Amino acid sequence: MVKDQRDHYYWKAKEDGYRARSSYKLLQINKKFKFIKKGDSVVDLGAAPGGWLQVAKELSAGKTVGVDLQRIEPIPGVTTFQGDMTREETIDNVKEFLGGEADVVISDASPNLSGAWDYDHARSVDLAESALATAEKLLKPGGNFLAKVFQGDMFNGYLEHVKKKFSRVKVHHPPASRKESAEVYVVAKDLLKGRPVKPGEVFDIKITSLGKSGDGVALIDGFAVIVKGTCLGDEVKVRIKDAKPHFAFGEVIERNG
Ligand SMILES: C[S@@+](CC[C@H](N)C(=O)[O-])C[C@H]1O[C@@H](n2cnc3c(N)ncnc32)[C@H](O)[C@@H]1O
Repeated sequence: MVKDQRDHYYWKAKEDGYRARSSYKLLQINKKFKFIKKGDSVVDLGAAPGGWLQVAKELSAGKTVGVDLQRIEPIPGVTTFQGDMTREETIDNVKEFLGGEADVVISDASPNLSGAWDYDHARSVDLAESALATAEKLLKPGGNFLAKVFQGDMFNGYLEHVKKKFSRVKVHHPPASRKESAEVYVVAKDLLKGRPVKPGEVFDIKITSLGKSGDGVALIDGFAVIVKGTCLGDEVKVRIKDAKPHFAFGEVIERNG
């Protein structure tokens, strides 16, 4: 490739000391969604050569860990493991280093591209599913997740899987991604791990108290579900609309009493 064909972000990365143009994608996505905060511990799956790791360290200044099949040249303040992100051994190494669970897991992992669109799309979704499964094992309840996926007909299925696990999920194409690129980023906040109710689930409940706003409240396994338009003693079928760390909102889909 001759110099003039390389894009703005390629040269900017050289100037700013980043290892990859992809650093700007992470900076742009975090500027918009703020899923990495100061002090967070961050795990980057598929991290070589380390452009995202450099940015993750700058943004969080917390424990920052990179995993890749390839070796990653050392980065000050960053710990790296060479290995497959799907292997239990790799996951155990990361957990041991963190001394607990992570605040954020990010994955820019890509398969080696064959050029055959459908095949590359399927492998990218498979890798994004692996990143999701690994993130569930590494993240603390309420943690955030970011994953790259190549668009195609399996994308919506993947998005549904992520939506079942996190309370807020968005799809984004950052300006630093080439316009013609099929890649998009799934930004998922607030891992629902450990919560007894999840968005979309349906329960038969009885309203046993009223909240400050006057809305009915029912307890499911000791977890408060607030249901608008209900009164004390109402027996209703509700669908969970949103699950926060300490309570959820449900909407009435049927009145039983
Ligand atoms: C596009 S690069 C990541 C670039 C990186 N975000 C950066 O800014 O430098 C994708 C990486 O995913 C890695 N990868 C693919 N499958 C993996 C797996 N199963 N486990 C770990 N890394 C994997 C590849 O080795 C490759 O280095």
